[in-house]
Amino acid sequence: MTTEATRPVPLYGPDYAADPYAVFDKLREFGACAPVELAPGVVATLVIGYRAALEVLQDPGTYSKDPRVWQHNLPPDSPVAPMMTWRQNLLFNDGEVHARYRRAINDSFALIEPFELRDLVHRLSDSLIRGFADRGEADLLAEYARTLPLLIFNALFGMSDEYSERVATAMAAFFDAESPEAANRAITDFDGYLRELVELKKKEPGQDLTSWLLEHPVELTDQEVIDEIMMTMSAGHEPTTNLIANALARMLSDDRYYRTVSSGALTATDAITDVLWNNPPMLNFSTHFPRRDVDLHGTWIQAGTPVLISYAAANTAPSELPAGPRSDTGAHLSFAAGPHACPAKQPAVLIAATAIDRLTSWLCDIRLTVPYDQLTWRPGPFHRALTALPARFTPIAPDQKGTNPWHESRSSSTPPPRTSPET
Ligand code: HEM
Repeated sequence: MTTEATRPVPLYGPDYAADPYAVFDKLREFGACAPVELAPGVVATLVIGYRAALEVLQDPGTYSKDPRVWQHNLPPDSPVAPMMTWRQNLLFNDGEVHARYRRAINDSFALIEPFELRDLVHRLSDSLIRGFADRGEADLLAEYARTLPLLIFNALFGMSDEYSERVATAMAAFFDAESPEAANRAITDFDGYLRELVELKKKEPGQDLTSWLLEHPVELTDQEVIDEIMMTMSAGHEPTTNLIANALARMLSDDRYYRTVSSGALTATDAITDVLWNNPPMLNFSTHFPRRDVDLHGTWIQAGTPVLISYAAANTAPSELPAGPRSDTGAHLSFAAGPHACPAKQPAVLIAATAIDRLTSWLCDIRLTVPYDQLTWRPGPFHRALTALPARFTPIAPDQKGTNPWHESRSSSTPPPRTSPET
């Protein structure tokens, strides 16, 4: 029986988006696990305790990632359907099937040289910064953080830039579909585009992730390669956008961050670490389904019902972890843990740190135009995503002599004057 005390707590709508941590605090009254509603009519158990979260993530024998036992319960028009419906890829499968896909992804990502990735991020960051540098203001979310990962993936998978917009539309619909029809249209369009890509790479293989997946010894079929690319791009885009944007938001509104080394202050990497602990790109995900009824730290969970991990709540579980601040990057759960932990942690952090360094090197007095606490966040149970990141800076002409920070030596001991954020 559902009583007021056990009524699932909604993880959607503007109040939750404005302050999810207030909701997590309330949920702690339930213990390590709490009943939540991800969207109207979609009830789940949210794991908010750190140890309980690790237990789920590291026990594939008890907790399956395959939603097919449950997904018939999804209301047909549910906005969370695209994120919770089974697909033939590594995210929604267990055991040998998962291990085979995972090998192909891991081995292919391992072929990306960090210095080449850094060069690529430099080149693509510069191309975006050039687009707004002489304006003196920009929405760093729409014009930088959201676009950059797509340009990077395009290049890593061997796609040309002209495809970026098509991919961007598909990604947006995947995470924030206004209707299931819109989500399906986006998926169909994206699928068509991936088919073209795979055909092209079969004829003309190159040094890119698509060619490496096609050539991998686990012998993926063309369809499997398409599914892996679609999954990897959708798994990578939203969180990488949010990692860049959330870290920039922190950095540009806090005077302790300064880009110069000799000032001895906090760096982009510190901002990224802070975000990974305290405002992760994905707040809640890692959907699992217990294979039998289980008692998880005092909560009975019925077999075949969704159990999600709140990385955000687990990272900040007050009784289980020493109080911050933390400098270590290893123990937070924001990349998940266990067999389905993010396979692209290092490249993701490298991309975010390089993108932020590049932006703050070009536009050295950049600051937000609204205070941090007035930034607004997109509703949704999974992500921690800004709606906009408006910033202002002294305009520079891209080719203006002396404005390119890599061709002149700046005095790192004399930072430019900082102005407080304008309201
Ligand atoms: C280069 C960018 C990225 C790529 C290509 C990428 C790719 C992937 C892939 C392929 C998976 C599925 C792994 C599996 O099921 O075995 C995954 C899982 C995951 N990734 Fe990433 N990712 C990226 C960035 C990020 C970032 C920035 C975060 C957040 C800090 C993140 C958080 C996660 C989490 C939490 C999971 C587990 C999801 C689940 O099990 O439901 N990823 N990622």
